[in-house]
Amino acid sequence: MGSRKISTGGPYYHIPVMKKKVLEALSLRGGSVYVDGTFGGGGHSSAILDLFDCIIIATDKDMNSSQIAKKLNKKYQDRINFYNTSYTQIPTLLDSLSIKAVDGLLLDLGVSSMQLDNPKRGFSFQNEGPLDMRMGDSGISAYDVVNNMKVEHLSEIIKDFGEERYSKIIAKKIDDYRKINTINTTTQLSKIIDDAVGNFYKKQRGMHIHPATRTFQAIRVFVNNEFEEIYTLLMGICDYIRLGGRIAVITFHSLEDRIIKNIFDHLTGYSSSKSRYEPTTESEMKYPFFYPDKKFYKPDQNEIKENPRSRSAKLRYIQRTKHLFRENLDIYSMSKYKRIFEELK
Ligand SMILES: C[S@@+](CC[C@H](N)C(=O)[O-])C[C@H]1O[C@@H](n2cnc3c(N)ncnc32)[C@H](O)[C@@H]1O
Repeated sequence: MGSRKISTGGPYYHIPVMKKKVLEALSLRGGSVYVDGTFGGGGHSSAILDLFDCIIIATDKDMNSSQIAKKLNKKYQDRINFYNTSYTQIPTLLDSLSIKAVDGLLLDLGVSSMQLDNPKRGFSFQNEGPLDMRMGDSGISAYDVVNNMKVEHLSEIIKDFGEERYSKIIAKKIDDYRKINTINTTTQLSKIIDDAVGNFYKKQRGMHIHPATRTFQAIRVFVNNEFEEIYTLLMGICDYIRLGGRIAVITFHSLEDRIIKNIFDHLTGYSSSKSRYEPTTESEMKYPFFYPDKKFYKPDQNEIKENPRSRSAKLRYIQRTKHLFRENLDIYSMSKYKRIFEELK
């Protein structure tokens, strides 16, 4: 699989994952409008534009993506309509552009390599940098969470958004440390976590990840309100997908993937008790979407060898039926976290 590196004009670049499969998933039937909610380095958008004479409506919270979209637009004759905003704004953007229906939506969740590798963004515990982790340039940062959040909330966030079994111990250690010193950098935080639970990790069989991995994930998810934004967009976009159009989502960790799976199962009326080889029934076709084939895809060994960061990627996609989307699926109500969020402001 060709994996063109997308240059950002700086030293960092992003390789789009599962590019060929994403194009198949979106089932590019020569449609005219596709939405790329997570434009990043524009790798997936470019692949779509290379294939078809369509336009792309793209969003990304990251300012740097605006520059990339501008550059790519020279190549693609202004076929990219980029907005530096959250993808939750897509339905509103489509309304403002008088676009009633689109042929497909792609979400490639998480952070780009450009964000991860730039120490100034503070996403990685491996590079010394400020505790930031914001995908955009506003809102609370990792610094606020680590230095100002109540210890019991910190523990809750680390457990809920990082699935970290040692969340209480880590939160307590952070709290002890910040009573004496402000925690300013990624490596400072990473060392505090390592001191707190490094030994537990070493003793646990199968725990090959760095002890800071889950806590960093949790803080990033919280800072960017990632789960609520996924839910908000997927609930808001359904009736903008044209009959036969598709929603394709790439996830990078199990919590994220579970959310997509649950929402897709709900939108398709899929029951996990049923074998995926059984044909779609008449009653399932009353749902606004269906699964065109199997439930998810992963990168092959060649891709993982060429781009090790793709190893945890999972792609799921669903296809629009003629049935209206009506229900409000409130399975990911974030009210509890909203309160914690407000306290930090
Ligand atoms: C994995 S990268 C996408 C890479 C892209 N597909 C490519 O080929 O270059 C994820 C991107 O999504 C953006 N992002 C994450 N959450 C977002 C949100 N709620 N709204 C808009 N952009 C978001 C990030 O800033 C990041 O640039």
